[in-house]
Amino acid sequence: MTYRTLSAALFILLLGAPPTQGAPDPTILAGAGDPFRVITLKAPDNSIVANFLSYGATTKNFWVKDKHGKYRDIVLGYDNKKKYESDPSHPFFGGIVGRYANRIKNGTFSIPITKDATGDNVYHIPENENGGLDTLHGGLTGYDRRNWAPIEVSKSKVTYHLIDPDGTQGFPGTVQALVTYTLLKGAKWKIEMYANATAKTPILLSSHVYWNLEAYQETQSLADHRLYIDSSRVIAADGILIPTGELTNVTGTYWDFRNETRIGDVIDKAVGYCGTGCTGLDNAWIYDRSAESKSAFSLSSPNSGIKMSVTTDQPALQVYTCNGIANNGAGKNVTIPRKKAHGGPKKYYPKHSCAVIEQEGWIGGINNPEFGQDQIYGPDRDYKWSAVYSFSS
Ligand SMILES: *[C@@H]1O[C@H](CO)[C@@H](O)[C@H](O)[C@H]1NC(C)=O
Ligand SMILES: *[C@@H]1O[C@H](CO)[C@@H](O)[C@H](O)[C@H]1NC(C)=O
Ligand SMILES: *[C@@H]1O[C@H](CO)[C@@H](O)[C@H](O)[C@H]1NC(C)=O
Ligand SMILES: *[C@@H]1O[C@H](CO)[C@@H](O)[C@H](O)[C@H]1NC(C)=O
Repeated sequence: MTYRTLSAALFILLLGAPPTQGAPDPTILAGAGDPFRVITLKAPDNSIVANFLSYGATTKNFWVKDKHGKYRDIVLGYDNKKKYESDPSHPFFGGIVGRYANRIKNGTFSIPITKDATGDNVYHIPENENGGLDTLHGGLTGYDRRNWAPIEVSKSKVTYHLIDPDGTQGFPGTVQALVTYTLLKGAKWKIEMYANATAKTPILLSSHVYWNLEAYQETQSLADHRLYIDSSRVIAADGILIPTGELTNVTGTYWDFRNETRIGDVIDKAVGYCGTGCTGLDNAWIYDRSAESKSAFSLSSPNSGIKMSVTTDQPALQVYTCNGIANNGAGKNVTIPRKKAHGGPKKYYPKHSCAVIEQEGWIGGINNPEFGQDQIYGPDRDYKWSAVYSFSS
């Protein structure tokens, strides 16, 4: 036996057959593998080409064709992969947010859910925002800063797996999460998420991709983008964006996108809409009808001709218009170098030039029982999430 055949035999003995397309990747057996591994997927008709990173199960590049038939990378991120881990401004570029997306008031919740986090089972999660007043996106090391294992890879599909052990960031129970990205012909992107837990625990996941449908070519702003949201209610929040338990009727406000609206016509008028001293949008809309059958959200730019529409089983949608991407909220300038494809690295991503779009459950459901949203999962209840993003030009 040569060394090579011996090691191959040992490999099969210890780990099973070597990976073939579609088979589980044995790297999971040795941990999650290289966090900075990039996986490139293509839709069967090449209508989309995308790069994903194991770190955060991150959507790193996403090329679709514009009205001239040319590919553009329409998501924000870093050319330097290591920045996903090290950028202190931590914009959550393209990653999966969890175990509990958005804000947990005072980093505190109870199971079952109570308004003031009281009872026998009160949990405390490290606060990482607003000087300790709340927890954003799962704590100091949320799912966007974990190493996910690509356990199944084919030309147009990847499944990432994460084990989030009991007690991590203070959450009860071990959660196992799966995220599957599939590129379909006709420029469709399907995202599916699944999670289970060994004990009762809150779960709220989302994909935190930043979009600019012009890829910073015709303009350096979101202003010419058109936004449509089939929603007449937003989740009301206080000055630091913590949900209060109330809903606001969008009629007569700058939150009304039931008719497609040019973002530039409203964004500068939306003073205080994204918290005290903040102009722009950073809110959660409740879809009026099931968004599963008909697209209840779209974003488009006539300049590039690219339109993105979404169908989803999720009841709510967060839209953040990059109000703080060039400022850390404490009056300090933040300079995130753009990708080369966006005119970087000497240019930075400017304020109001991008939008994070998060399909998700009702934010703050964990502190607001009046929402009537059961966001506690566990041995008897698995978590599921799915959405299809469709692109046209
Ligand atoms: C915030 O959480 C801490 C730690 O659990 C608790 O001691 C404190 O009472 C909470 N504050 C409020 C205002 O609920
Ligand atoms: C939880 O999910 C993981 C990953 O898919 C799976 O391997 C495991 O069997 C699931 N556990 C239960 C109890 O269903
Ligand atoms: C919002 O307010 C408008 C105008 O007062 C009213 O017609 C509509 O029914 C309200 N919608 C909801 C969801 O409360
Ligand atoms: C949407 O536009 C139509 C046609 O201009 C108008 O009748 C309707 O009142 C608008 N709806 C809203 C919610 O602004």
